[in-house]
Amino acid sequence: MMRLPKSITLLAAAVAVSLTLAACGEQKIEVSKSSPEFASAEVFKERCAGCHTFGKAGTRGSAANIRTRERTDGPNFDVRHECVQRVLYAIQNGGFSGAVMPANIVVGERARELAEFIAKYAGVDAGPRPEGTGDEANGYQCTSERSPEALAEESEQTDAGDN
Ligand code: HEC
Repeated sequence: MMRLPKSITLLAAAVAVSLTLAACGEQKIEVSKSSPEFASAEVFKERCAGCHTFGKAGTRGSAANIRTRERTDGPNFDVRHECVQRVLYAIQNGGFSGAVMPANIVVGERARELAEFIAKYAGVDAGPRPEGTGDEANGYQCTSERSPEALAEESEQTDAGDN
C-alpha cells in the first residue's frame, strides 16, 4: 500500500486541532447525567443559554463586558443569588420588566424543576446568600415578605451593574 504523503497527514492533524479549538466555546453542563437535575440543566442550555450565564448548565449568554453588553443579555446566575418564586415569576412573566425575555418559555412542572435548579446553584461566585433568598433547609424558597413586583423594582435598580 502506498504511504500517504506527509502533507496530508499534517493537514489531517491541523483539522483535528481546529475542531478541538472550536469546541472550546461550548461549555459542559456541570451536572452528572444520572442526576435528576440533568434534565433542568439541559432545558436551561436549550432555552435560556442565549441570554444568561450559568456555569452549572455550561452557558455563557450574559454580557462579559459592560461595553459590549446587548439588550438581550440577562443576569448572570453565577454572580446572582435567586430563590424559587423569584425565578418562577421571571419565567412566567418574561423577566421582571417583561421587555426582553419571552414569557413561559417553559411551563408547568418543568418550570418548577428548572426554578428549583437555578435557585439552588445560582450565586456560586457571589458569596453568602442574602436574606430572603432561602437556603437548603427550606428548598431555596424565597422567605422575603416582599412581593415579586417589589423584587422587580429592586432588580431594575441593581441590573445596571450586572453583567
Ligand atoms: C431573549 C433573552 C432571554 C432569554 C431566552 C431568557 N432570558 Fe431570562 N432575562 C433576560 C433579561 C434581559 C432579563 C433582565 C431584565 C428583566 O428582568 O426583564 C432576564 C431576567 C431573568 C430573571 C430575573 C433575574 C433577576 O434576579 O432579576 C430570571 C430568573 C430569568 N431571566 C430566568 C430565565 C430562564 C429560566 C430562562 C429560560 C427558560 C430565561 N431566563 C430565558 C433575557 C432572557
